[in-house]
Amino acid sequence: MNEQPRASFGGKLSVILVAAGSAIGLGALWRFPYIAGKHGGAAFLLVFLLSVLVVGIPVMLAEFAVGRHTKKNAVGAFRALSKRWSWLGYSGVLGALLISGYYYLIAGWSLEYFISSVTGDMFSSTLSYKEQFDLFQASWKPLLCGILFILMTHFIVSRGVEKGIEKASKIMMPALLIILIIMAVRVAFMPGASEGYSFFLSCDFAEAFKAETIMMAMGQAFFSLSVGMGCMVTYASYFKQNNNMVSTSFNVSILTLFVSVLAGLVIFPAVFSAGLQPTEGPSLVFVTLPEIFKGMPLAAVWSAIFFLLVILASLTSTISFHEVLTAYFAEEFGLCRKKAAFVTTMISIVLSSVTFFSLFGIDFFNMFDYITANILMPLGGMFTCIMVVWFMKKGFMKDELTNYGKCNRWFAPVVIFMLRYITPLLILYIFIKNFI
Ligand code: PHE
Repeated sequence: MNEQPRASFGGKLSVILVAAGSAIGLGALWRFPYIAGKHGGAAFLLVFLLSVLVVGIPVMLAEFAVGRHTKKNAVGAFRALSKRWSWLGYSGVLGALLISGYYYLIAGWSLEYFISSVTGDMFSSTLSYKEQFDLFQASWKPLLCGILFILMTHFIVSRGVEKGIEKASKIMMPALLIILIIMAVRVAFMPGASEGYSFFLSCDFAEAFKAETIMMAMGQAFFSLSVGMGCMVTYASYFKQNNNMVSTSFNVSILTLFVSVLAGLVIFPAVFSAGLQPTEGPSLVFVTLPEIFKGMPLAAVWSAIFFLLVILASLTSTISFHEVLTAYFAEEFGLCRKKAAFVTTMISIVLSSVTFFSLFGIDFFNMFDYITANILMPLGGMFTCIMVVWFMKKGFMKDELTNYGKCNRWFAPVVIFMLRYITPLLILYIFIKNFI
């Protein structure tokens, strides 16, 4: 076992920024707009919001409790609480592996878009943005950019928790918020933007109650909040004992919602203004955004800044699932941090290559995404709720939520009630309903 003293994050703000850094990433900026676009816009937003409140926040709190209490990697943490539940930690490790199989590739797309903004290629080409995207996909570049992204993540994670992860998040998160707001204002002046607002803000309830919409929105809540796969367990293992988990989870969730809504307010008006379809799918953000920049003075500069921030937001997320694996290899196999990070990096490169080449003709990209967001994370979250309230010693959750009686007294019973009855049953219900 690794005997070095365990690192911890600094003050309250650091903890929020680091956890929000994990949460806010491609989930809010890329996945949310394209999935919302496919599932009715406003209807999806509404169900997503409810999922964050009723499912996301309670699961996040349960994970915080497990991580902070045990101060171990995902597998070690569940095992320390109860040997019978260590499989939940392994399911988290599996989730981190599957996400590593495709997330870096998409993060790599933003790297390519950043580079072609800086070189000016993006705006000097005579091809449409859709054609440019397809051309890029048909080349080797996505794999190269994906690997570059893995190496950037490796660099930060191997530097450690305080120097690498914490410092990076503190700068990147505020910058991202500012530029998104500027873009939302700019987009409002594009011709035809109003159609986008009505798509994103006026709700078709029939769409909202469809089993598939609900399932996708719940999956989005899990994915976007990074819960249900041991990531928040791992991060909480670096929290100080006196951290107020309830306020941390609220802040992280509100920030994630805020960025998702802002992303929608930027993308949808631009989609309609440029005559594109909101149902475009995974390329939506990448074919729409250049349209916004095109008409702006200093297009290349804005575009470069924006994609730089997408890179940074993705980086604070890739760091977090890299860390799940790095902490696992370090603590469970007794490797030093650098070696553990190296093993994780190598595995990530192999998995990304498998996805890139669609080995055996399988669409790993969508498969990995679907399995993690819609199956593994919701089930992981459901069992985590069940474990902390039904199988731990009495008062475990209450002690953790109140810091042994020091804070948030009124809120703790509400969370515990949700964890006991509402959240797991709801996840199960949505799950069964969708698969029937
Ligand atoms: N929440 C991250 C995002 O939205 C993705 C992620 C999922 C990160 C699971 C860690 C664990 O981009």
